[in-house]
Amino acid sequence: MRGVFGTRPYRAPTDPCCVVAVQNFKGGVGKSTLSVHLAQYLAIKGYRVALIDCDSQASATTLFGYVPDLDLTEDDTLYPFLREGERSSLDYALRKTHFDGLELIPANLRLFNSEYELAARMAQGNGALLDRLKEGIESISDRFDVIVMDPPPALGAISLSVLRAANALVVPVPPTVMDFSSTAAFLSMLDETIEQLADRGLAPELTFLRFVASKVDENKSMQKELLQLMRTLFGHAMVRTPLKDSAEIDNATARLMTVYELDGPATSSAVRNRCLNYLDGVNSEIEVDIRSMWPSHQKRLRQEALV
Ligand SMILES: Nc1ncnc2c1ncn2[C@@H]1O[C@H](COP(=O)(O)OP(=O)(O)OP(=O)(O)O)[C@@H](O)[C@H]1O
Ligand SMILES: [Mg+2]
Repeated sequence: MRGVFGTRPYRAPTDPCCVVAVQNFKGGVGKSTLSVHLAQYLAIKGYRVALIDCDSQASATTLFGYVPDLDLTEDDTLYPFLREGERSSLDYALRKTHFDGLELIPANLRLFNSEYELAARMAQGNGALLDRLKEGIESISDRFDVIVMDPPPALGAISLSVLRAANALVVPVPPTVMDFSSTAAFLSMLDETIEQLADRGLAPELTFLRFVASKVDENKSMQKELLQLMRTLFGHAMVRTPLKDSAEIDNATARLMTVYELDGPATSSAVRNRCLNYLDGVNSEIEVDIRSMWPSHQKRLRQEALV
C-alpha cells in the first residue's frame, strides 16, 4: 500500500545509510533478539533494510527459519568476503526474506574461521583488514536505508570490524549486576578503541549511541534499582521504553520465529499485546534516531513532534 500511494519512508539518495550495530561484548543480553525485531519493525514500516548476521552462532539466521549448518554453506555468509581480497561486493551474500524490503546476510559456524584468519593476518601487520567489513557494507549501502548488524558476544576481530563499520550503536543491557558491570567494561573498551583510531585519523563517526534496558523484570527489586541507576547514568542516551522480559519472546523463539511474524499469541492476547507495546516502543525510539540522521526527514520529524 505504501508503495502504491508513494508514502514509503525512504531516505533521500544524499542522506547517509544508517549502519547500526546492536552490540555488547556480554553474551545473552538480547542482541540477536533486538536486532531481528528492529530489522523486521523497520521493514514493516516500509524501509529498505539489510540484516547482517556477523555471529557464527547464527541466532539471527535461525530466526529466519534456516538451520544454519545444514541449509547454508560458508559461501553464503560473510566468510568469503572477509577472506578473499578479490571480491569487491557483498551482493553475493544478500538474500530475500519473507519480509518485504528486508534482506539477510546469514551466518553459520564456518564464519568462526574468520576470527582466526583475520587475527593471524593482522598479527602480520595487516591492520587494514579490520576495515574489510566496512568496505563490504559500503558496496551495498546505496540500496538500503538501514543496515543492522548482529555481532558475536566477544571482543574479537569480527566485533572490532563491526565497530569500525557502524555509524550508530544500540547497546542492550539487562539490569543485573553482572550484565551492567560487563557493559561498563565494554564502554571503556569502546572508548579506548575510538581513541586509538582517532590517533590515526580513523575514528568511527557514531551518529547516535543508545542503551536499551533488555530482559527487564520489574518484579525483582534489584532490577528496579539498577534500572533507575542506568537511567540516571545514561540520561537521554537511554531508550525510555524498557524491553521487558516476556514469555511471548521466549515462546516465539522456541518456534524459531519472532513476535512480529506470529499470527496470534504464543501465550495469551494480553501478554502478546504488552510485548508488542515494548517492542514497538523501543523500535520506534530508535527509528526517530535513525531518521534524525537524514536531512530529508528533518522537516517531517519536526511536524510529527508538533502533532
Ligand atoms: N525481552 C526478552 N524476553 C524474554 N526472553 C528474551 C528477551 N530478550 C532475549 N530473550 C531470550 O534470551 C536469550 C538470549 O537472547 P539473545 O540470543 O537475543 O541474546 P544475545 O545477546 O544475542 O546472545 P549471544 O551473546 O549469545 O549472541 C534467548 O533465548 C532469547 O529468546
Ligand atoms: Mg546473539
